[in-house]
Amino acid sequence: MGPCKTTHLRLSHVARSRYDSFTLIELREVSKRFGELEAVNALSLTVEPGELLVLLGGSGSGKTTTLKMVNRLVEPSSGTVLLDGEDIADIEPHALRRRIGYVFQRLGLFPHMSVAENIAVTPSLLGWDAERRRERVAELLKLVELDNDMGERPVTELSGGQQQRVGVARALAAKPKLMLLDEPFGALDPITRERLQQSFARIRKELDLTAIFVTHDMLEALLMGDRIAVMHEGKLAQIGTPSELMQAPATEYVEQLMSTPKRQADAVERLLRLRDDEVVS
Ligand SMILES: Nc1ncnc2c1ncn2[C@@H]1O[C@H](COP(=O)(O)OP(=O)(O)OP(=O)(O)O)[C@@H](O)[C@H]1O
Ligand SMILES: [Mg+2]
Repeated sequence: MGPCKTTHLRLSHVARSRYDSFTLIELREVSKRFGELEAVNALSLTVEPGELLVLLGGSGSGKTTTLKMVNRLVEPSSGTVLLDGEDIADIEPHALRRRIGYVFQRLGLFPHMSVAENIAVTPSLLGWDAERRRERVAELLKLVELDNDMGERPVTELSGGQQQRVGVARALAAKPKLMLLDEPFGALDPITRERLQQSFARIRKELDLTAIFVTHDMLEALLMGDRIAVMHEGKLAQIGTPSELMQAPATEYVEQLMSTPKRQADAVERLLRLRDDEVVS
């Protein structure tokens, strides 16, 4: 082996370890067509370890489809998804999904099972014993603010918001390093929603979680995201930190989106002033 080859090997080793330490998920030119419709169009982005990336965009912009291509619930029409440098097309789908916590947009709980059984689905598949599962379920019920005795109830008896919290608990059950969350707090009242946003932000730091978090709520995106990827009609309109998007929106759509909270606050203020004026006159 000549010196050139040794140098080449060393360099590629350095490049590989650098790459690994900075990127957990990479989408390369990923597209998904449903018949004529290009639901996701040549999407490229990366997610770093420990980062929470928000996918933000209007209804039908391709957020759920993108999320499902990361755990192979949907197969891309073209392009590549890499997890820790490995092409996920080479990972068996069930094995892949056990490594990734997934919170479905529309529930996706098993209706014939109790709350506790739903939460313990992945730990059961991984062969955890009954005691360890019971402890984990109790821990998670507390975390998502559900009473411990709720564990025995059929999930179908819970309200929509309670079921959504079971969905979050289930996704966290086997302590995944990566979570995909599809509008996890959409069915909650604003006060519970705010509390759970805060507790999720806390546990993701504690567990050093990496997450892709889908929402169409601008305020939630600003509060939760390290970076925000704005999707518009299947394409990535812009990706950046909340302040980068605020200060330098790349398109008119991003600008409009980013100014929504302020517009809404101004509208509320105007309304209150109008009401005050009515009372005075
Ligand atoms: N299985 C499917 N077959 C055909 N079309 C689909 C399928 N899944 C999604 N689509 C279409 O692809 C587009 C993107 O859908 P997607 O569910 O990714 O949107 P979204 O951004 O998650 O929207 P929302 O905010 O309403 O949940 C939509 O036009 C949708 O109708
Ligand atoms: Mg969706």
